[in-house]
Amino acid sequence: MAALPWRAQVLTLFPDMFPGPLATSIVGAALQKEQWSLEARDIRAFGIGKHRSVDDTPAGGGAGMVLRADVVAAAVDDARAEAPDLPAIYLSPRGRPLTQEMVRSWSAGPGLLMLAGRFEGVDERVIEARGLEEVSIGDYVLSGGELAAMVVIDACVRLLDGVLGQPDSLSEESFENGLLEYPQYTRPRSWEDRNIPETLLSGDHARISNWRRAQSEELTKARRPDLLATRKS
Ligand code: ADE
Repeated sequence: MAALPWRAQVLTLFPDMFPGPLATSIVGAALQKEQWSLEARDIRAFGIGKHRSVDDTPAGGGAGMVLRADVVAAAVDDARAEAPDLPAIYLSPRGRPLTQEMVRSWSAGPGLLMLAGRFEGVDERVIEARGLEEVSIGDYVLSGGELAAMVVIDACVRLLDGVLGQPDSLSEESFENGLLEYPQYTRPRSWEDRNIPETLLSGDHARISNWRRAQSEELTKARRPDLLATRKS
């Protein structure tokens, strides 16, 4: 029996945002082929009262609105009842910064449950009570977690077996070896007085490999010295 496809559950107030860009290109083709599945689950379905209210003013005062713990918990529990084994994350600028290592580990699992917040945030108690890991896609603030969830999904799905045409290209790309990727060139050999580096045209694979490695290290040192400091391989 074939394994179940990698499962993405997104809890959102804007389910219409999905699949959005995830319907396009390699990740979209994989969705069509059922190599992964996507559920955009409407938090408002768990809202309170006639108006299906999902938020309220922050305790202690202040601007904006906060998503209610009881509403979010009901949405999380409903999703988990269908897929109890998925790790659960809450996309938030306060979270642990997303890395390729986290992506690799989630991609190797059964899928991911993602809570996309809006407004000023989510009641802290539900984050604790449901064990949601907070994850950030960078040090800037989006208007909601939906785009961040799409980023996480895209990064995970492209690593699934059979999704990329040429899996070889994965081992060379940025971050896979703790370094940024070396520069790439293609025809024409000379363009606007700029030439493809001679080494790449030499046919000498060992020389090419050394050149690429040196370029990767130089680029990483110049642009991302923080990666060198924490490198494992
Ligand atoms: N929601 C709003 N901003 C975010 C960010 N930087 N990362 C993840 N989720 C977010």
